[in-house]
Amino acid sequence: MKELLRVENLNAGYGDMQVLWDVSLEVKEGEIVALVGSNGAGKTTFFRAITGLIKPYSGKVIYQGKEITGTPAEKTVSLGISMAPEGRHLFAGMTVEENLLMGAFHRKDRDQIKKDLEWVYRIFPVLKERKKQLAGDMSGGEQQMCAIGRALMANPKLLLIDELSLGLAPVIVDVLINVVKDIRDMGKTVLIVEQDVQVALEIADRGYVIETGRITHHGEARKLLEMEEIKEAYLGI
Ligand SMILES: Nc1ncnc2c1ncn2[C@@H]1O[C@H](COP(=O)(O)OP(=O)(O)O)[C@@H](O)[C@H]1O
Ligand SMILES: [Mg+2]
Repeated sequence: MKELLRVENLNAGYGDMQVLWDVSLEVKEGEIVALVGSNGAGKTTFFRAITGLIKPYSGKVIYQGKEITGTPAEKTVSLGISMAPEGRHLFAGMTVEENLLMGAFHRKDRDQIKKDLEWVYRIFPVLKERKKQLAGDMSGGEQQMCAIGRALMANPKLLLIDELSLGLAPVIVDVLINVVKDIRDMGKTVLIVEQDVQVALEIADRGYVIETGRITHHGEARKLLEMEEIKEAYLGI
């Protein structure tokens, strides 16, 4: 499989407060990769650093073979990296369809945007039913679907999802897990960040475990789930 994203020895943080320490991670085309770790471990900061929302101190971000370290967010989205952010960040006073179309704001291919909107509605039929409703009036699970749909409207090669399952009921999480797998089967590559190690490693082909800003383990998701120290630290077994 071809490499899509490679992060090498990334150091990043906020002013004097360093959060990420020599983080390296790789995503190949067509994979689902999960970055898992507890609240405050640095997962969102990692996404901010690769999408250009913050500038890393050092290290490299290589996407499709080209270095994009420090490239601002409006550029990285045009390059094909889009994110469903933690907490969804929908425009609560706008309709579902308006929110979805916001994801395509940088695109000019009108006909393809229409097709992609229909595609998102096929993936999430409930969004089609609710397209005229205000996003703020929907349930948490529907809002998460809308946030993922909006990210897909950017026509990404690499879809980033920050906390897929946080705050959602298990039945909804199961639906989302299947949808993310479908999205991958339709040709997208997915990198997710998750606090729930069980969910993350169920969905992912490979995983990385991050503890206070450092990668401590990585490998096939199935193998990580079987490791004693991961069971003890994250699964309460
Ligand atoms: N905007 C910010 N300014 C300063 N510190 C921040 C900011 N955002 C997050 N942090 C700190 O960075 C650390 C990692 O946070 P974060 O990346 O959000 O972790 P996670 O997503 O894994 O829960 C935490 O100690 C958090 O308090
Ligand atoms: Mg976070």
